[in-house]
Amino acid sequence: MKDSRDFPDGEKSAPAGQNARQGANKAWGGRFSSGPAASVVEFTDSQHYDRAMYEEDIKASRAHAEMLGRQGIITADEAASLIGGLGQVLEEIRQGKFEWKQSLEDVHMNIESRLIEIVGDTGKKLHTARSRNDQVGLTFRLFVVKNVTEWQDGCLQMCKSLGRIAANHQNDILPGCTHFQPAQPVSLAQHLLAYASMFRRDYERIGEIIERISVSPLGAAALAGTTYPVDPRFVAEKVGFRDIYSNSMDAVSDRDFVLEALFAASLVMMHLSRLCEEIIIWSNPAFGFVGLPDDYSTGSSIMPQKRNPDVAELTRGKCGRVYGSLMSMLVVMKGLPLAYNRDMQEDKEGFMDASSTVSSSLSIMAAMLGHLHFNTQKMRQACGQGFLNATEFADYLVSKGIPFREAHHAAGKAVSMAEKRGVDLESLSLDDLKSISPVIEDDIYRWLPYEAAVQRRNAPGGTGPESVKAQLAELDKFVLRSQGG
Ligand code: ARG
Repeated sequence: MKDSRDFPDGEKSAPAGQNARQGANKAWGGRFSSGPAASVVEFTDSQHYDRAMYEEDIKASRAHAEMLGRQGIITADEAASLIGGLGQVLEEIRQGKFEWKQSLEDVHMNIESRLIEIVGDTGKKLHTARSRNDQVGLTFRLFVVKNVTEWQDGCLQMCKSLGRIAANHQNDILPGCTHFQPAQPVSLAQHLLAYASMFRRDYERIGEIIERISVSPLGAAALAGTTYPVDPRFVAEKVGFRDIYSNSMDAVSDRDFVLEALFAASLVMMHLSRLCEEIIIWSNPAFGFVGLPDDYSTGSSIMPQKRNPDVAELTRGKCGRVYGSLMSMLVVMKGLPLAYNRDMQEDKEGFMDASSTVSSSLSIMAAMLGHLHFNTQKMRQACGQGFLNATEFADYLVSKGIPFREAHHAAGKAVSMAEKRGVDLESLSLDDLKSISPVIEDDIYRWLPYEAAVQRRNAPGGTGPESVKAQLAELDKFVLRSQGG
């Protein structure tokens, strides 16, 4: 007779007893007469990646056990036994002696099952007054905090690298661009400090996100809260979190924290990608502003002359997969009814992938920056193309009382005249210049040099040397503060 539990492909579900013997899920198997099909076990399995959170799961479980003991929900001896047993599990995992079982679904049940093996029936009391729903929420939040703290460190390294290089190039100038067309000369320091500003914002943004992640959902139980006299604040404090949930249904189904982290990750990668793009362009011989060090570039298998900026290109490319993780998590959460849904298990792989991408991209870029060779002569030469001092010309006229709009028009005429003759603005004779505006005197030649254009821009945040010094000092203060110095 055909077993109604036969699967179309002939795959059989195992009777519950048999499954239990195979180490299948005893945690929720009570109502089932058979265990899940092998394909279902494999499909729903998350232990092969969520085991990365074992430290956090055990930390949270130890805090929970201690709370259960303090509240008299279990005895002090039982609490001590759970805490000790969890310590042993931790050691076994750290030493690679732990046997992970796919049949136990995830990191949480693997650890609990081993705890029961170690401490016996008392181990079965650990899950009193909690559910895997609030458990996974707390575990993952702890894990996300640990990871984003690493990104913060990477952002700080970027600020330090950029600051160090900027300090050495306060007097070197290059064409600053808008629309990627030469616009006005800026110092290389100013250009690099723009990126330092981005990574400082990233650092600070992550700090703000950590505040919101550090809220414990433990105590919300499955979704409705619990009847036990729990003390969720004790658990929160014990794991280093600043607050607890305010609504149990939100607590177990909120994944804003991982989305915020992925958004912060996306911004970090976007900033890195922009910097990479500059390095790629600057290292093209047509620019020649930057020389790539041997140990951070690769050759071509066919073109012997090639020196490729692969690190910058790959970092730019990896930006795409981090955006992908953000996008897929937004879609996972869209339309999910309250409260926990298994869909949410999809929150971890994308985050883990994004996290290692962000950390490795930040650290390799911070290191590579220190090895770049900046060809400041080429940068200076490039300032001579594109009439980067046309704004100075207009500003000069303004200093002689001409309204800016008129001055702008006259400067445009001067550019057109110089262009026709194939010379720079500063090479036009005083007579030529006077034909454009009679107020022009000899002193205009002091306004036109590119260095002068940079030096005059000391308004807050400008490229002038005093402003750049102030920016560097501000960056130093930030770095010191962030290092706890
Ligand atoms: N592995 C699950 C996750 O990551 C844990 C929660 C499962 N809860 C449940 N009731 N099935 O989301």
